[in-house]
Amino acid sequence: MRRKLLLGNWKMNKLASEAKEFAIASRPLAELAKKNNIDLGVGPTYLSLATVKEFASKDMIVAAQNCHYKESGAYTGEVSIPMLKEFGIDWVIIGHSERRAYDNETNQKCHDKMAALFANKMVPVYCVGETLAEFEALKTKEVVGKQVREGLEGFTSEDVKDLVVAYEPVWSIGTGKNASSAIAQDICHFVRETLRDMFGKVADEIRVLYGGSVKPVNVKEYLSCPDVDGALVGGASLKIESYEELLRNIL
Ligand code: 13P
Repeated sequence: MRRKLLLGNWKMNKLASEAKEFAIASRPLAELAKKNNIDLGVGPTYLSLATVKEFASKDMIVAAQNCHYKESGAYTGEVSIPMLKEFGIDWVIIGHSERRAYDNETNQKCHDKMAALFANKMVPVYCVGETLAEFEALKTKEVVGKQVREGLEGFTSEDVKDLVVAYEPVWSIGTGKNASSAIAQDICHFVRETLRDMFGKVADEIRVLYGGSVKPVNVKEYLSCPDVDGALVGGASLKIESYEELLRNIL
């Protein structure tokens, strides 16, 4: 049985002081989520990770938004996995479409990062999704299938058992044009079947999330789809009131 997962991606938002305020206010929500068998988390910027880890409930998942695949070295501006682990961070968002678009995050780079994460027993949240042009050209499955296969090629079923995959159509991110729940179900199902083809029955344990303009008003509809195990939420995860509403609406 896959546990539901509600994960906020704060992107480049919130000062550490604001992150602290949110973390403290989120404590009862983490308890509520736990009681209802829901995993709850947020992805702050690097600079707020330690603060959120310190002030949020121990049950709150705290995810980094990126990492480097090397342990250390001459990589100016980067942060390594051991640096994250030192702060108790063991979840990392990989291959977000904004990083694919602005930071040249290729399937191969995602693969290298996930290899390092699996070696460290950490959990990648691997983001996949097509652009508007690809969606309109009916290439969604071709693009998403390639992202899943190239990103995860060569790993074992043991490696991927805790993996989370997030389907986020690029055209629905921050636009208010969310994909219908039928599209979300169809593509999340397709992701799971691709995982089944690659790794066998462990595909039934891997959580597949939908992301893209998820709001309190539509979150329940997405999570009612059999292959949508949770949501990766940007804008609506930033304010504690809206984050709380997202959670309450899926209890
Ligand atoms: P929005 O919820 O703001 O559309 O962002 C989605 C997203 O990119 C989460 O990673």
